[in-house]
Amino acid sequence: MNPPNEPTRTAVRAATVGWKYGAVFIGYYGAVVHGLPGIDKITEVSEMSAQELIATAKAMVAEGKGLLAMDESTPTCNKRFEKVGILQTEETRRSYRELILTTGGLGEFISGVILYDETIRQSRKDATLFVKVITEAGIIPGIKVDTGAKDMAGHPREKITEGLDGLRDRLAEYSQMGARFAKWRAVITIADGIPSRGCIEANAHALARYAALCQEAGLVPIVEPEVLMDGEHPLERCFEVTAEVLRTVFSQLYTQRVALEGMILKPNMVLPGKDCLTQGSVEEVADVTVSCLLRAVPAAVPGIAFLSGGQPCELASARLNAMNLRFKTRMPWALTFSFSRAIQQPALEIWKGQKENAAAAQQALYHRARCNSAARLGRYRIEMENNVDSRAG
Ligand code: 13P
Repeated sequence: MNPPNEPTRTAVRAATVGWKYGAVFIGYYGAVVHGLPGIDKITEVSEMSAQELIATAKAMVAEGKGLLAMDESTPTCNKRFEKVGILQTEETRRSYRELILTTGGLGEFISGVILYDETIRQSRKDATLFVKVITEAGIIPGIKVDTGAKDMAGHPREKITEGLDGLRDRLAEYSQMGARFAKWRAVITIADGIPSRGCIEANAHALARYAALCQEAGLVPIVEPEVLMDGEHPLERCFEVTAEVLRTVFSQLYTQRVALEGMILKPNMVLPGKDCLTQGSVEEVADVTVSCLLRAVPAAVPGIAFLSGGQPCELASARLNAMNLRFKTRMPWALTFSFSRAIQQPALEIWKGQKENAAAAQQALYHRARCNSAARLGRYRIEMENNVDSRAG
């Protein structure tokens, strides 16, 4: 038999691809609507663990809730302590994390907290493990598992995130310690001539391999490709780069057979560089960010939880609020927060490592969690900032 000519081969390829997509769609539709085989057939996880991944991912972005990132590495945490004059020891880091986790009522607004390797092994002063404290507060514990962004060979000024070696074993240990989700952060820099395609592809590939390993271990992966705010570039440039990065990440997630229903995306908001003279209004940032996400993030993803990236706290809340207010009925995913600095910074500055400041620091943390929860619902108002609730502590 003669080999098929090019048009025939193209038609067969198209039919095969079409069939595969059709089968995936029918599988997903069936799972959701009729209980037919679903995402366990799309990816290599069992039916039970697929359902657990989906349930955890949904709980992480539950109505009115978001994530609290307290996964600063030891050097980053020490740098933040140094800035406000706090001693940099394991005990100060532990007692700061205890302050956060014992804030009364945190579970009203926070669905999950992201821990760091040092923190997941630590306990409250009375020897109760932090993981137990978190779970008892109705919050889901998670863990940062990358080992940091390092200079990328052959790519001056660019970073590649490391941590894949031995990851399967580390995930098994964290899961056994009670973690139910994980986080990996890739860093993309905008400047003259960068980001390069090489940097975007390498980071997207690493994110996808990490995510596949997480799902195999029964942990929901938070996939965090962060386009930094540093620079003078305009909003449009951040839009272009963020869109390219997200498309590349989702292409790699597809190639690595990651079930989108069992993951959370943690992107940057689309912002002008922090040294750009034109900063744009809250509404403009909201519109551009949601347009970018609508074009690049598949509807099967249950939730998007933004990093704050160094934005002032109130602005981060106002921008998230505007997105939820203006696009609520048009977004297929939940849109919430996974902030570190935009939740913690005021509390850290009040605490200063002093016992007598702990109650006021907890109040400040509770206040930011409450404001961001309101923003998750499109109900944040700037007047809320004058009304610090005293229930925490
Ligand atoms: P920021 O909100 O301070 O950007 O931190 C989020 C985070 O988890 C960075 O990986």
